[in-house]
Amino acid sequence: DAVELGQYRHYMQKEIFEQPEALANTLELIGNGGRLQPGIFGAEAASLLDGVRSVLILACGTSYHSGVTARYWLESLAGIPCTVEIASEYRYRSSAADPDQLVVAISQSGETADTLAALRHAKDLGHTRTLAICNVPESAIVRECALRFITRAGPEIGVASTKAFTTQLAALFLLTLVVGKLRGRIDEQAEHDHLACLRHLPVAVARVLELEPSIQTWAQNIAHRHHALFLGRGRHWPIALEGALKLKEISSIHAEAYAAGELKHGPLALVDRDMPVIAVAPNDSLLDKLKSNLKEVQARGGELNVFADADSHFPETEQIHVLRLPEHYGDLSPILHVVPLQLLAYHTALAKGTDVDKPRNLAKSVTVE
Ligand code: AGP
Repeated sequence: DAVELGQYRHYMQKEIFEQPEALANTLELIGNGGRLQPGIFGAEAASLLDGVRSVLILACGTSYHSGVTARYWLESLAGIPCTVEIASEYRYRSSAADPDQLVVAISQSGETADTLAALRHAKDLGHTRTLAICNVPESAIVRECALRFITRAGPEIGVASTKAFTTQLAALFLLTLVVGKLRGRIDEQAEHDHLACLRHLPVAVARVLELEPSIQTWAQNIAHRHHALFLGRGRHWPIALEGALKLKEISSIHAEAYAAGELKHGPLALVDRDMPVIAVAPNDSLLDKLKSNLKEVQARGGELNVFADADSHFPETEQIHVLRLPEHYGDLSPILHVVPLQLLAYHTALAKGTDVDKPRNLAKSVTVE
């Protein structure tokens, strides 16, 4: 292989650990000061983004999860309505196009057949404001969009997407800031504060990676299970979805993810002592709600594995295992919280002995329908 593994056993592990650098490279264009310009999305961005009334995101798999996360940012920070659609569904549904809607196609490879077809479908419906968020500059999706943002994750070899995901999130946060500014929802001070958080992100991610030894221990416990349930709330619900996708892809363990408030609407019936529950529990405004959801799990004898923040105050017991991330990271917290879930999936697969970089039945890029 052209890309060397170096000190790592697998490409996935290497790519997880490359995230600080991938984020720093992707965010290089924001520099050390100054203001964000629409031009980071292409020469025509100022005119095409001006007057946009809503956003439609099209993507598959992990890229879809970055879109679902971005919806929380776009609506809460930029105040713009946002819909996120699975590309393979959108392309076959009759939808009403709004020419003032921005269509964002997200794809690591830029060659995913369903996402490309969904983009073409949107253009056939009359959409002209199109933006590609991609990791491959010369890919089909980039060529066919009016605007582009190229993430600088570097080549991603492992089938399970990791660094592409976190760099997509960084790009989507920049989009939120640009759209929010154009709509008068983000003032100079807010922009300055958000940019400062973005600049610190590579360091914050590097600190989360230091949790690897503890996550390895948790993975030993998950590796012999047949099922796992991931829970999160708000902008961390898509992070739970992504954690479950990573685990099922590379360890072949059946994993599901739910917004924790949905537990008693069905999935609680699955919970017993054989079902490990993995909770994404940052110290945000939904923490108390999440804690009461988790009590329902405990009451049914479920084993809890909680990824909390330093100040989330989870008591550790025999039934509740807690790992604390070093700091709470506000709006950008999803980018930190996905990292331990990537490591958990990786070490679970390693303990189980499944093929990490080339999981059964899967291809890196799905270029046929
Ligand atoms: C991620 O771990 C998967 N292998 C898969 O879901 C992937 O994200 C999806 O196929 C979309 O690929 P793309 O980002 O290259 O379009």
